[in-house]
Amino acid sequence: LGAKGESRGALVVFEGLDRSGKTSQCGRLLSFLEELGHSVELWRFPDRTTSVGQMLSSYLTNKSQLDDHTIHLLFSANRWEKRSMMETKLKAGTTLIVDRYSYSGVAFSSAKGLDFEWCKAPEIGLLAPDLVVYLDIPPEKAAERGGYGGERYEQLEFQRKVAQHYKLLKDSSSWEIVDGCQALEDVEKQVKEIVLQHVMTCRKGKALSYLWS
Ligand code: TMP
Repeated sequence: LGAKGESRGALVVFEGLDRSGKTSQCGRLLSFLEELGHSVELWRFPDRTTSVGQMLSSYLTNKSQLDDHTIHLLFSANRWEKRSMMETKLKAGTTLIVDRYSYSGVAFSSAKGLDFEWCKAPEIGLLAPDLVVYLDIPPEKAAERGGYGGERYEQLEFQRKVAQHYKLLKDSSSWEIVDGCQALEDVEKQVKEIVLQHVMTCRKGKALSYLWS
């Protein structure tokens, strides 16, 4: 993987509970970086456009039932099917803003009761983000925000468990916790500053690394 010295794009991941504001912030960040002239793309997981993604979508909308381990591995497979394209884009200098990644995979599945380490295992070898922006919001507050859309995991009690499991993933140095209860514009300002620093570091040739580093 990218030896030190090669300029590349940054892998910036957004994580947080459902309704924490990730999607809005990702959109705003995309426009901001584009306006500055950066090569940048917005991705999201699950990527519902692939055939694996269609299985995930059908599960999330309660149209199909699957064993918890099976669905966990499908979420992971959905990231693996994008891995080589991700590496190609980053090495070509494109920054990727990614709405959810492996941390969602582990936090949501382990909140159902699956073993934490078992949940982490299939993510080993995926590209490690340069930065994880965690939009921190109490589960109660998230639930109040325009209500949940009715997908499988959008329930207060379950989101409380997810929040606890996210906390177990948070200790790595690449995490930035942003208070998601602030006004949209304040979150946006903070996010822009943090992300720009990382975009610059990657442009100077920070080496790519793998999960779980
Ligand atoms: P979305 O609303 O961001 O499209 O995500 C759909 C749901 O899927 C959300 O409740 C989080 C959950 N999820 C997992 O359980 N595992 C994963 O690996 C990912 C990416 C999302």
